[in-house]
Amino acid sequence: MWYLCAFYHRLLDYRRPEVESLTELFGGPGAGDTVEWRMPENHHEDSPFHLVRLPGDERLAAQVANRSLLVKGLYELWGQGTTYEELEKSVREYPDERKLPYLTPESTFKIFVETFGKAISSQEQNEIMNSLTYIPFMGRVNLKNPENKFFVIETDDYGSNNGLPPVMKRTIFFGREVGAADRHLLPIYQLKSRKYLGPTAMDAEMAFLMANQGLARPGKLVYDPFVGTGSILVAAAHFGAMTMGADIDIRVVRDGRGPDCNVWSNFEQYKLPAPLSLLRADNNLPPWRPGLKEIFDAIICDPPYGVRAGGRKSGGRKLLKGVKGPYTVPEEKRDNHIPSTAAYSLAECVHDLLHLAARMLVMGGRLVFFYPILRGEDGSSNTQFPEHPCFKLICSCEQILSLRYSRVLLTMVKVAPYTEEIKKMAEEQHRDFRENHQKWLDEGNLHSAVFSPAESAADGKSKFDRDSKPKYRGKYV
Ligand SMILES: C[S@@+](CC[C@H](N)C(=O)[O-])C[C@H]1O[C@@H](n2cnc3c(N)ncnc32)[C@H](O)[C@@H]1O
Repeated sequence: MWYLCAFYHRLLDYRRPEVESLTELFGGPGAGDTVEWRMPENHHEDSPFHLVRLPGDERLAAQVANRSLLVKGLYELWGQGTTYEELEKSVREYPDERKLPYLTPESTFKIFVETFGKAISSQEQNEIMNSLTYIPFMGRVNLKNPENKFFVIETDDYGSNNGLPPVMKRTIFFGREVGAADRHLLPIYQLKSRKYLGPTAMDAEMAFLMANQGLARPGKLVYDPFVGTGSILVAAAHFGAMTMGADIDIRVVRDGRGPDCNVWSNFEQYKLPAPLSLLRADNNLPPWRPGLKEIFDAIICDPPYGVRAGGRKSGGRKLLKGVKGPYTVPEEKRDNHIPSTAAYSLAECVHDLLHLAARMLVMGGRLVFFYPILRGEDGSSNTQFPEHPCFKLICSCEQILSLRYSRVLLTMVKVAPYTEEIKKMAEEQHRDFRENHQKWLDEGNLHSAVFSPAESAADGKSKFDRDSKPKYRGKYV
């Protein structure tokens, strides 16, 4: 069945992949691939209004919409038009057998009038509601808890360069709501009320989107190898998944800011089941015993890619250069010893992450992680993403963070088993990274690319002149 899918006008690249992932989650393996999309006539691809065909019945559609963060409403579309006359004609033509079951005398209902890109007065809203006399509503109005919610949604040509995607023509939709995101959980989980926070704690909305991409749900085990304050795992636990995390910084996983302010207390705060375990582990030197593999259903993380905080790996510079050999920490210093670390390049970190995921994810398991990209002066970005023979990239969702760089949420599915051959290949690359440590650090230095002064054009103006950019920049929200 085709539905009208009205999205919240934010995180534009994340909208369709979220619906597809949730269809896979509730519809079973392969269901996500069967989702089809169309744009309503005259709508720009960034418009909040999309038409979507979902497999299964309305219950599946409701589950998808209710679990999402970005679906403002999923509607059975009864009609549409560019004028109210056209809308009436279209609703009248919609089959009675589809309409009448929702208009019975026993039912309760409420009509909502919404607009996108324009505001209308409450008087205009009432006039629009009163114009719907051609729909035989027989039920009682219930404003608080109606069984059926009907929506008139209007969008118009509201002019250009106002930060909204262009609209070619006025469109009015009329539909019955099938489901909608429950964004009430965002104020509950917002970072400003979180007990234990760090500078790179993942914002709640994004953490939930990541958990949705990772298909987090009861019975699944989700691992975050860069757990920090645990924000991503909190979101996965909210959806019922079991969680496990690791971080190279022992102070993060063991101590936090005290007994009542740490990763564990972040779970207690929301009455969520605690992580199965938090490890002090280096992504570059994973602690798994030989032969252990395929235990996680999803690995979801925000690797340290070096713009705000760089990655670290065990060893220290002297150790890596071979100036110093391995040493044993004296017994009396073991409790408080912080092992020395060296900078960890983005390239090596991502290589290790893919290798870890290839080994530790179950077949069909998902790897969801952020990857940074630099943007050109024209706003273009290089979309060469990391690859691995065990993984298929199913979507990349860009979030533009500044004129210079974006982060892209990559979702990969494990499609091939982790073999001896792949293991050997990874070990060889690992050696290469160790031997060319400095080269990789220099090449992966995103921090300097992002923070170096902008180059000037011939006229002396910065090439990244904000005023020269159109106000509407698509994914920039
Ligand atoms: C971007 S932060 C993740 C923040 C986390 N998502 C949160 O919500 O708090 C990256 C984390 O990776 C950790 N880290 C850096 N290098 C690491 C490594 N080699 N192995 C494991 N963790 C590492 C840092 O200590 C930091 O906590």
